[in-house]
Amino acid sequence: SETLKFAVLPGDGIGPEVMEVALEVLSAATKPEALDLDFATADVGGIAIDNHGEALPESTLSVCRGVDAILFGSVGGPKWENLPPKEQPERAALLPLRKEFSLFANIRPGLLFPELVDASPLKTNRIPDGIDIVCIRELTGGIYFGQPKSTRTLDDGQKEAIDTMVYKTSEIERIAEVAAIAAYGRGKRVCSVDKANVLETSVLWRQTVTDYFKKNHPEIELSHMYVDNAAMQLARDPNQFDVLFTENMFGDILSDEMGVICGSLGMMSSASLGTGQNRFGKPFGLYEPAGGTAPDIAGKGIANPCAQILSAAMMLRYSFGYDAIADRIGNAVKKTVQDGIRTGDIAFGKSSIGTREMAKAIIERLK
Ligand code: NAD
Ligand code: IPM
Ligand code: MN
Repeated sequence: SETLKFAVLPGDGIGPEVMEVALEVLSAATKPEALDLDFATADVGGIAIDNHGEALPESTLSVCRGVDAILFGSVGGPKWENLPPKEQPERAALLPLRKEFSLFANIRPGLLFPELVDASPLKTNRIPDGIDIVCIRELTGGIYFGQPKSTRTLDDGQKEAIDTMVYKTSEIERIAEVAAIAAYGRGKRVCSVDKANVLETSVLWRQTVTDYFKKNHPEIELSHMYVDNAAMQLARDPNQFDVLFTENMFGDILSDEMGVICGSLGMMSSASLGTGQNRFGKPFGLYEPAGGTAPDIAGKGIANPCAQILSAAMMLRYSFGYDAIADRIGNAVKKTVQDGIRTGDIAFGKSSIGTREMAKAIIERLK
């Protein structure tokens, strides 16, 4: 039997709650295939600050270096918000992890099952068949990482803060390639989202993407849209998009919007892939829900585990090549919501159940 070796980093807030049950689903789904799960759990984020004095301890990094993929929960929360900004979990753990493993390509499926359309804030008659789009977000560049990034006191006593948005041609081309590959597996349409009417980085982005597709992927239908319009179009008619392709911060914002029009942020999984390959010659990746630690519901046992479960399924697909098992997990999730079994975030007036019960219902539908 084959062994799947991965790191489990539950993190903070609802992270450990949804991670625990996602591992149960993963175990139930892989057992009939005689796959062994060999995972090492490590502290990351706020819990790592509490236990080890830093958000991304060397011990956690070394666990990550020895595996084929990382299954990540989420980090951050009120408890650590008063620390110096650079020491907070998001900036001291998650961003460095993405950078460490060059995870420049963030894939966020915007999938709303027809059976869950009643949970979307969009009018159901506009999206009778649900939503099926995907966001390809650049993840290791742009304003998140550009230098200088600092705060200083000016001569007149007030403060000034600077973030720098920066992109190189090579960074734009490699994520354009990921968007193209995603498009070949779908409707062969890519909409590149930028702010080229204002930002230099966006002018370069648009030019580079145009040239790259013309030269390498003429059969893909490429269009461009300004980000403010894209935010509006997503709410107006989401299925006009096939592959929504954009830079780091725009992708962060638009993917939360995609999450909610697809029922709830608690449904949205993601894969962050880079240049590295694992023992199987597959992409080394970090798999995490698009949402955060949900402090407003943490500790109550009511978080939606679907985003974490579907992220684990993405890990099976991309880093281990077990597409059939990933599909089975996706179908079990779909069947569960179809049967009207819902956590609070997608229940809307209907009765709802907790995290564990939701996972149990999904496991029952794996067969
Ligand atoms: P959030 O995504 O944690 O929560 C936003 C809203 O969505 C909340 O009402 C929350 O209850 C709901 N929600 C999110 N996931 C859910 C789930 N699985 N089930 C049910 N409801 C869910 O965003 P926030 O409140 O802005 O941030 C809280 C903390 O999480 C912050 O510290 C933030 O920096 C951090 N964060 C971390 C990650 C990550 O680690 N990948 C991502 C986003 C935010
Ligand atoms: C996400 C999160 C992160 C991001 C934060 C927590 C650093 O919001 O994964 O979407 O902005 O990338
Ligand atoms: Mn985000």
